[in-house]
Amino acid sequence: MDLPQDRLTLQVTARKDLARDIAEFTLARPDGTALPAFTPGAHVTVETPSGAMRRYSLVNDGTAPTTYVIAVKREPGSRGGSASMHDDLAEGAMIQVDPPENDFELVPAPHYLLIAGGIGITPILSMARHLTAAGTPFSLIYCTRTPEETAYLDEVSALPGATVHHDNGDIDAFYDFWDHFETPGREHVYCCGPAPLMEEIKAISGHWAEGRVHFEDFAGVEVVRADDTPFTVTLAQSGRQIDVPADRSILEALRAAGVATVSSCESGTCGTCKCRLVEGQADHRDLVLMDEEKDDYIMICVSRAKSGDLVVDL
Ligand code: FES
Repeated sequence: MDLPQDRLTLQVTARKDLARDIAEFTLARPDGTALPAFTPGAHVTVETPSGAMRRYSLVNDGTAPTTYVIAVKREPGSRGGSASMHDDLAEGAMIQVDPPENDFELVPAPHYLLIAGGIGITPILSMARHLTAAGTPFSLIYCTRTPEETAYLDEVSALPGATVHHDNGDIDAFYDFWDHFETPGREHVYCCGPAPLMEEIKAISGHWAEGRVHFEDFAGVEVVRADDTPFTVTLAQSGRQIDVPADRSILEALRAAGVATVSSCESGTCGTCKCRLVEGQADHRDLVLMDEEKDDYIMICVSRAKSGDLVVDL
């Protein structure tokens, strides 16, 4: 559960461009003191300058950190989160960050296969650095469109066991993963990248033992889309009306209005923010609700009004 009182107020102490539309931000306390530790695969939830909350994987070593390092891709069509990180977050700026969480933890294994697509390299690189330091064997496959769009290209290319594959956006040139999955091994697989990559890995690993293939999926649903429109949510318990702008989720609008409510993944995958829908038609964007629940419930971190306004049991 993310509660605002856990938040850290951090400063951007460094910012650099890693690749086309990808910038790296180093965040630290203004006095440079220690930050909560984290393990490879962890992420932080950041309040972007637009007010939208976004989750970013941590790239640096989390054993005794005084900095959090994240890399942010400007998403095409972004009107809030990633665009505001690129346009409005300069060195020296302050930013609110929730402490690290890890839903993508490395479990002990004799060997690892790490798979990254695009900006999905961030948790994977953190794992690769950790495994390299520990002397644990791993293979890494990193798929991107072009070298110009590839963050950490030199570092990943230099890792033993790493393959960097560019497909230039040509579907016929996509990396063929089948050889790695045909015969289930004893390794654990960690995959982070765009939905089509993760869907492919899910499809070709169906015959693997449960729990052997791990996915980081917090970009799983689009929280805000370019053609979204504003609407109003009425809180049934108080009668209060909250305007939800086109570029904010219901959850973000509630927070901005000082209404405390619980959340965790903020990407429609965990179920924490489930609310009873008293009135109105929801545009369901979560991956949690079953069809028979959709008339009566809404996941307020990602779902919106289909038309008109909504009344929720808060
Ligand atoms: S916070 Fe996880 S589904 Fe909404």
